[in-house]
Amino acid sequence: MRKQIVAGNWKMNLDYNEGVSLFSEIVNMVKDERKGDQIAIICSPFIHLNSLAKLGGNDVKIGAQNISDKESGAYTGETSAKMIKSVGAEYVILGHSERRQYFAESDALLAEKTKVALANGLTPIFCIGETLDERNNGSYYEVLKKQLVEGIFSLSDSDFAKIVIAYEPVWAIGTGLTASPEQAQDIHAFIRSEVEANYGFNIADDTTILYGGSCNPGNAASLFSQKDIDGGLIGGASLKSRDFTDIIRALN
Ligand code: G3H
Repeated sequence: MRKQIVAGNWKMNLDYNEGVSLFSEIVNMVKDERKGDQIAIICSPFIHLNSLAKLGGNDVKIGAQNISDKESGAYTGETSAKMIKSVGAEYVILGHSERRQYFAESDALLAEKTKVALANGLTPIFCIGETLDERNNGSYYEVLKKQLVEGIFSLSDSDFAKIVIAYEPVWAIGTGLTASPEQAQDIHAFIRSEVEANYGFNIADDTTILYGGSCNPGNAASLFSQKDIDGGLIGGASLKSRDFTDIIRALN
């Protein structure tokens, strides 16, 4: 069964007290808005995870924004999937364009991180997306397909079935430019068809595909009404409790 999800990505914002305070507001507001089996997630910096997991209950799940590709050992500054899982996080964002661009994360590294996340019981929210140049020169289907093939298409059927995919056009992230509902639907349908070609109809039909990139309370409903858009990965608007809750309300 395909799940509807709205996940907030706080990125590198909010100190510890600010994060706990915003999260408490979000939990209070979301518990009255979330319908049935819709899932709300906040992906915070590592320092918040332990406290937020205790506050979120069933209403708001917790995720990290990165993990090490290594299980454990002498890797100064890294944080493992097992550590994240042990404080109550259930999700991890992988392949975000900011990690690909600023931290040189390759498709091969992301494939490793995905395997480590799954092996430790975390659900990857695996991001793909094209740059403005790639959109303008028409190579975007090829770019997206490569990210899928090299990042997640070597997973077994049972592992792939646990993945959430997020389509985030890089040109729409934090820019105020949003893909139109038709542009986003076109790509989501393409992603689902690639999943079907590799994993068959049932897994493709059940795969949750989120849209991310300047999603806000004003445009969320028209994006989420598209048949292959199952929710959103929300950056800036997840830093405001009212906006984040309004976006959850826009799930159809
Ligand atoms: O992970 C979230 C995305 O990068 C979208 O960020 O909503 O601020 O454009 P944004």
